[in-house]
Amino acid sequence: MTVWRLAERLRIAVIGLPLALWGCEKEPRHAEPRAIVVVDAARPAPEVDAAEPDAALDAGGPKLPASRVKPPALRRCGAGSWCAPPGQAAESASSRAKDFDGCATALGMRRQGEFFALTVDRSRTRQKRAAGQDLCCYDWSSPCPVIKGRALLDRGAAVMARLRGRRPGDARARTWAERGLGEHASVAAFARATLELLAVGAPPALVQATMRAAGDEIAHARGCFAMAERYAGAPVEPAALRALPARADGLAGVARDTFLEGCVHETLAVPMAMGWQQDAPAAERPLLRRIVREETQHAELAWQTVVWAVAAGGSDARDALADAAREGRRQYGKSAGWSALIEPTLALI
Ligand SMILES: [Fe+2]
Ligand SMILES: [Fe+2]
Repeated sequence: MTVWRLAERLRIAVIGLPLALWGCEKEPRHAEPRAIVVVDAARPAPEVDAAEPDAALDAGGPKLPASRVKPPALRRCGAGSWCAPPGQAAESASSRAKDFDGCATALGMRRQGEFFALTVDRSRTRQKRAAGQDLCCYDWSSPCPVIKGRALLDRGAAVMARLRGRRPGDARARTWAERGLGEHASVAAFARATLELLAVGAPPALVQATMRAAGDEIAHARGCFAMAERYAGAPVEPAALRALPARADGLAGVARDTFLEGCVHETLAVPMAMGWQQDAPAAERPLLRRIVREETQHAELAWQTVVWAVAAGGSDARDALADAAREGRRQYGKSAGWSALIEPTLALI
C-alpha cells in the first residue's frame, strides 16, 4: 500500500513557519513531496480477520468459548468482513433478515453510538462451509465524510456550483464531475482567502502562496471536468458559482476559517485522493498524482497560515482556533485522518 508521510510534512510546515516567512527567502511551498509516506487515513487499515474462530482463540486475548469469535472491528469511514458461528451471528439479526444456509442475511450492530449494517457474503460463506467450517460471513462498510479539498464555507455549509445541463449518465463521468465541482469551489475559497489575508496584513509569502494555490485549483478543476467529458462523451462544466464576500473577522477569523476550510479539508483530502489514485485506471493517475502533490502543499499552506494568524492575533486568534477545532472534531473527529493528522498537528500550534 502506498503510504505518505503527510504527518511529518505538516509538522515541518508548522515548525518551519518562522524560517519560511522571515528567516530566508524560501516560500511556503515544496517542489515535490518526499517519497516517504506513512499515513493513508481515508482507506481502511488492513482488516485483521477476526473471522476465524481459531485465529480469534489464538490471538492471545481473553479466551472465547469455541462457539464464539471476536466481534467485528466496526468503525466509521471503514469497511471489513466478519465471519461467526450462525448462533452468534443470529444474536444481531435485523428484523428484515432472511435465511441463507442457516445464516441470518442481515445484521445490525451499534458501536459508539453508530449503527452498522452487515450483509451476508454468500460466496465466502460457501467457501467456509466447503472447508468444513460452520460459519456465516458478512461484509460491512461505513462511508467516509465527503472531502473535496479546500472548502468554500458559508456559515459552516459548503457552497458549490451545480453542473451546467444534465448530470452525466456514466458513473465514472459523474464521479469526475463531482470532483471538478469541489475543485471549482476551491478556486473561490482561495480567492476569498487571499482578500482576507490582505485585509489583516499577512506576509507577502502567504498571500503569494494563496494566490498560487487558486491557480492550482483551476488546473485541478479543468482536469477533472476534462476527465468527466472523456467518460461522458459530451461537455461537462460548472454553472455559475454563488459569490461570497470576504469576511472581516480579523486575525481570529483567519485562524478559524483557515483551520476549518483549509487545515481540515485540505489535509483530509490528501489521503482520500491517494486512495482514489491507488484504485484509478492508468489514464487517470497523472491527474490524481498532481492533485495529491498540490493538495499536500495546500494543506501545509493552511497550517502555516493558521500558525501565523495565531502568532500575530494573540489570545483572540488562539481562542478562535480552539473553537474551530471543537467544531472540526464534532464533524470529523471519528475519521482516521483526524486522529492521525489533524490532532497531532494542532497540538504543535
Ligand atoms: Fe484541488
Ligand atoms: Fe486544494
